Amino acid sequence: MAESVSAPRRPFISGNWKMHHTHLDAIAMVQKLSYLLTDADYQAVDVSIHPAFTALRSIQTVLDADQIPIALGAQNCHWESKGAYTGEISPLMLAKLNVAWVIVGHSERRQLFGETDEWVNRKAKAVFAAGMTPIVCCGETLEERQAGSTESRCLGQVSAGLEGLTAEQVAALVIAYEPIWAIGTGVVATPEDAQAVIGAIRVEVGRLHGAGAAAAVRIQYGGSVKPGNIAELMAQPDIDGALVGGASLEAEDFSRLVRYRLT
Ligand code: PGA
Repeated sequence: MAESVSAPRRPFISGNWKMHHTHLDAIAMVQKLSYLLTDADYQAVDVSIHPAFTALRSIQTVLDADQIPIALGAQNCHWESKGAYTGEISPLMLAKLNVAWVIVGHSERRQLFGETDEWVNRKAKAVFAAGMTPIVCCGETLEERQAGSTESRCLGQVSAGLEGLTAEQVAALVIAYEPIWAIGTGVVATPEDAQAVIGAIRVEVGRLHGAGAAAAVRIQYGGSVKPGNIAELMAQPDIDGALVGGASLEAEDFSRLVRYRLT
């Protein structure tokens, strides 16, 4: 049984750049961000950015050279460390670039590229095995929400995605609840709706992995998070952060998200 973790959960804001920004644009973006964000911001909030694979090496170099405390993240990986998997990137390759966080099971991967819960689970384990930490995504479609199956859908994805992980691993990872109907649509879940699902996810984590893991695991909301709506989402008791797509692409907007307490 894991020890109960009572430390407060640190807010965690992540920028998922998806298939945007060449490595040159990415470098410019990080330079602007480092100018806009201050030590006080980094003391209050953990920040990660998830550029395309082609920009990881350049961004790693900039973050290291200027000692910028933004964690480097990837958007996906394969579960094998090497092999005949044309077009794939292994966790080992990411770890060698100082990648700390890897998004697994984003709904775009699930919907557009056929990723299954089983793959998500294999990827989560492989990310840990390579010394990194996964951000495990879940979320329901509009049809599932309208059919009243939001919770069963999300809890199913979470229990399958986290299956076989230790309580310590679950405590360390991040879950991102991203209703698919809210991603890139400008339609954000209400803070109460997001809280209801995220609260249920935390209860399920407790049931499956123990109270310590449930108290420690950070759960982000994602889906049309903007500088104007982040504060009310973050005010909810179980929402510990945000996984942001569109509004993470501009340094000005992203820095305002990181400073959500002041927006
Ligand atoms: P969005 O994307 O902020 O553009 O809605 C969120 C995500 O897909 O992670």
